[in-house]
Amino acid sequence: MNVLVTGGAGFIGSHTLVELLENGHDVVVLDNLSNSSEKSLEKVKEIVSDYLNNPENKESTDNNKSLDERIKFYKGDIRDEVILNKIFDENKIDACIHFAGLKAVGESVAKPWLYYNNNIGGTLNLIKVLDERNCKNIIFSSSATVYGVPESVPIKEDCPKGSPTNPYGWTKSMLEQIFMDMYTSDNEWNIILLRYFNPIGAHESGKIGEDPNGIPNNLMPYITQVAVGKLEKLGVFGNDYNTHDGTGVRDYIHVVDLAIGHVKALKKIEEKAGLNIYNLGTGTGYSVLDIVNNFEAANDIKIPYEIKERRPGDIDESYCDPSKAKEELGWVATRDIRKMCEDSWRWQKNNPKGFKD
Ligand code: NAD
Ligand code: UFG
Repeated sequence: MNVLVTGGAGFIGSHTLVELLENGHDVVVLDNLSNSSEKSLEKVKEIVSDYLNNPENKESTDNNKSLDERIKFYKGDIRDEVILNKIFDENKIDACIHFAGLKAVGESVAKPWLYYNNNIGGTLNLIKVLDERNCKNIIFSSSATVYGVPESVPIKEDCPKGSPTNPYGWTKSMLEQIFMDMYTSDNEWNIILLRYFNPIGAHESGKIGEDPNGIPNNLMPYITQVAVGKLEKLGVFGNDYNTHDGTGVRDYIHVVDLAIGHVKALKKIEEKAGLNIYNLGTGTGYSVLDIVNNFEAANDIKIPYEIKERRPGDIDESYCDPSKAKEELGWVATRDIRKMCEDSWRWQKNNPKGFKD
């Protein structure tokens, strides 16, 4: 397939490009680079080129085009109808994987209009052009945040949606509703809503990974920046949660497993399966201290930490039941927590300044 990948220069997008290209798909990336660097696309090409040059992988794709023809990049914004139409004028697009969006929870509280404009306004614009161009196939990056405080764990897809605690979360919840209403109005749409749990890790080459601006909000990038000496110590947000050691429990998933989930979802789109929702997680919850301990053991590095106040909006625990994705997409996460910690560290160690080197 020729896939329009919005936000393809970002963390999850770049890893997904690798898996798409290695599986014979072509990609057209649209990204405004507001939270990423074009360098990630160069690195994606290096990784895929190494892969294709390995004789063991020759059979994996019968795509004879050159890699440069197979990755096209448009620097632009999903809110800009002109560039979206230009992409459709210049390319035959079969499906869209829609990653583009702003994702910083705290910033969304301070700048709600920006988040609603970018994430919801941008997606409405994208849907309009996809509809006009009769390309009614889309995979959307949703989030476990739509469950709010879950009624119970492990969370299944039919668990009622809850109230997100911030505007970012609401954009995901509202966009899910918008996609459902689009499907109700027109069953020609094939829509897959992927609810990601907590993506961490990096490609094992160490060439691409998460590259947050400023001080990281999320746990693993914070830990790797402590490990590399950029930050002094980790603050653990609360040790009085209702969990095995009192610190918050999440379902961490290796970003490469998550990326592979998108390739599987694309197969489902090809089957013209209508609207479907899947959790993408491992099904196992780890606490903050479990992650610290695993990181230390995997990489032989001490991570100093101190217990701090709870962070507003955080919940005790969130982990999923991933069996629907296994049954219907044939997808399971195979990379364990040690691998997640090793790969996160390899990326950070090789690229202390991320893509800014
Ligand atoms: P990211 O910031 O690394 O990637 C998002 C990309 O979208 C960036 O390259 C950014 O430049 C681009 N972008 C943002 N607004 C744009 C716009 N208006 N037009 C064009 N490009 C735009 O984030 P990520 O972690 O790769 O997340 C990808 C998607 O997955 C996002 O929608 C995010 O909300 C969602 N998600 C992420 C997580 C997570 O923990 N990383 C969890 C759940 C869901
Ligand atoms: N944590 C710390 N210290 C830190 C950062 C995080 O103790 O410096 C703790 C948090 O309190 C939480 C756990 O580590 O218990 C994970 O926190 P993250 O910020 O890494 O992840 P969240 O689960 O809070 O949020 C992530 C994404 C959101 C998404 C949400 C639900 O960042 O975009 O999952 O899917 F909405």
